[in-house]
Amino acid sequence: MPLTFDDLLTRARALPRGGRRAILGIAGSPGAGKSTLADRLVRELNGTGEPWVAHVPMDGFHLADAELDRLGRRDRKGAPDTFDAAGYAALLRRLREESDGDIVYAPGFERVLEQPIAGAVPVPPSARLVVTEGNYLLLETGAWARVRSRLDEVWFCGPAEAERVRRLTARHERYGKSPAEAAAWALGPDQRNAELVAATRHRADLVVPPV
Ligand SMILES: Nc1ncnc2c1ncn2[C@@H]1O[C@H](COP(=O)(O)OP(=O)(O)O)[C@@H](O)[C@H]1O
Ligand SMILES: [Mg+2]
Repeated sequence: MPLTFDDLLTRARALPRGGRRAILGIAGSPGAGKSTLADRLVRELNGTGEPWVAHVPMDGFHLADAELDRLGRRDRKGAPDTFDAAGYAALLRRLREESDGDIVYAPGFERVLEQPIAGAVPVPPSARLVVTEGNYLLLETGAWARVRSRLDEVWFCGPAEAERVRRLTARHERYGKSPAEAAAWALGPDQRNAELVAATRHRADLVVPPV
């Protein structure tokens, strides 16, 4: 029997044990549907009661354009070395260790500006489950290698490749690129990153079926 969305909800709900905060990772290539799945999980798990699930995107750790210019990496924004991977790994450690006391703030990512924004995502002490999602959660290079050990489980989003590229191209257009620019990014820099991510799929605990 293929997993249903209800099965995913049940599995996510069971992750925090003994009052300890749990962190669920969702990995996958650009346009795979990670953010959409995380939004839906968080919304349905929280329901209408007191929120106990928070959504922390890896995208908040994009380096700012000014820093990418300094490093000479602006033309490959989205590649593993255009993120603050060490900062992300450190935030995950804080989220594990500081589950009482103050709000822990994560950065967000503004899609029209394509810039990270500090202090955008509050994780209150009451959050028993954190859903974090992004491309490189399962990478084994550099500081990314510290990420996996800070996650209780990692699920992998892997829709059919043609569908993923179609959705990704449409998303680029929606955020202001021309059809030609959108296709060039999706099939160029995004595709190289997608292949890196696809090669990490075997490290996931579960592959999410199309939902
Ligand atoms: N299950 C789905 N069915 C149809 N479209 C989807 C689905 N999941 C995501 N999308 C669309 O595909 C695009 C990419 O999804 P998104 O969640 O932003 O991907 P990611 O966060 O993995 O890059 C978005 O425009 C989103 O609305
Ligand atoms: Mg996303």
